[in-house]
Amino acid sequence: MDKIVIQGGARLSGEVAVSGSKNAALPIMMASVLTPEPVIIRNLPRLRDITTALTLLNHLGVEHRWIDDHALELCAARIKSHEAPYDLVKTMRASFFVLGPLLARTGRARVSTPGGCAIGARPVNLHIRGIRSLGARIQLRHGYVEAHAERLVGTRIWMDNPSVGATENVIMAAALARGRTALENAAREPEVQDLARMLNAMGARISGAGNHVIEIEGVERLHGADHTVINDRIEAGTLMVAAAITGGDVVIRGACAGELEATIAKLRESGVEVASAAGGLRVRRHNIIRPIELRTLPYPGFPTDLQAQMMALLANAEGTSVITETIFENRFMHALELLRMGADIAMKGPTAVVRGVPRLSGAPVMATDLRASSSLVLAGLAAENTTEVQRVYHLDRGYEALDSKLRALGARIERVPDRGAS
Ligand code: UD1
Repeated sequence: MDKIVIQGGARLSGEVAVSGSKNAALPIMMASVLTPEPVIIRNLPRLRDITTALTLLNHLGVEHRWIDDHALELCAARIKSHEAPYDLVKTMRASFFVLGPLLARTGRARVSTPGGCAIGARPVNLHIRGIRSLGARIQLRHGYVEAHAERLVGTRIWMDNPSVGATENVIMAAALARGRTALENAAREPEVQDLARMLNAMGARISGAGNHVIEIEGVERLHGADHTVINDRIEAGTLMVAAAITGGDVVIRGACAGELEATIAKLRESGVEVASAAGGLRVRRHNIIRPIELRTLPYPGFPTDLQAQMMALLANAEGTSVITETIFENRFMHALELLRMGADIAMKGPTAVVRGVPRLSGAPVMATDLRASSSLVLAGLAAENTTEVQRVYHLDRGYEALDSKLRALGARIERVPDRGAS
């Protein structure tokens, strides 16, 4: 297992390119199950979660061929297994997103439930309820969701909260259902919109993605498609915070301002300059970091996946910030590690009060989940002396070569084998 070692204090400058979106790519890969024809997916990030998704698809009988480093052809001509096993679903929750497509294509699916997760309970009740509304018979047995349906039937579905994964699962299932589905209170995230674009390119009839109500007119069959995944707005936001936390000046190529409005607004409020630049955004900071109030919300609100990174920034502010996490109940694990670096953070329920300190001090810290690990890397960039971030596999699940990208911008960061790791 590797660790990342950072000598803090280097100001970042230069240009960096954003990779394809992990969270868009995963459901899009699962959508390949919906057709016997080959689909091509471009701008795929090379990361561990993508490899896990590929392992799952291969297990189901989907064949793959890499066209180049970031383009993949998937072909589900023959489905050999109807089961997503526990080992794969527990490694990556998004494996559960295969339930809808597998059931819609073959009439049956047996998918392990994901169980707990470092950032909260994360149930799948909304996925199950949505797919059941489409007429599936679903039983929960031995930790698995067992679903059957001759053919799913379109209907009106109200989602209690706008879950990203449940929205994706339901629209993939409804794409092949008989008749029309209206999904109300749907998630509006850009990743949902990208999945709808992919499905429409495959012959689906989906409208309204990006709005509260998504309508899906089921079709008899779907065909092959060639789709380019959107860029990763969370990686872009992470790189923006990296520029900000080091008082740097960085052009982030491929960052989409329209998808990052809440993030840009909050960075500006905290004294960071964000301007459009050719093909992306330029992020600079000359002044102090100002304290702000921040609340995570479903899109287009401030993303929970950037909360940990903003906490690292605000730990360096001149004054007291308040962060409220409304999406996941246990998403402050990074705060405990930031405390080890000298941050002043008090937590009560969903709220963290972050009193900025003049300078964090480098320390060995341990990542507990994907975004927590990037927040610790960011904190290390600004801290005095050396920070060692252990359990880097979390980072590798969701960021393509983050350490190399930061190094190219002038960060003193390296990846070394962690001999002490258990
Ligand atoms: C996706 C993203 C994840 C991001 C999250 C919220 C992927 C692969 N992952 O996760 O990075 O942090 O959106 O933006 O796209 N919930 C239920 N029942 C359900 C489903 C969800 O109660 O059946 C709750 C969750 O516990 C959570 C909230 O709804 O409190 C939002 O979760 P959801 O949008 O489903 O997140 P994911 O799709 O798992």
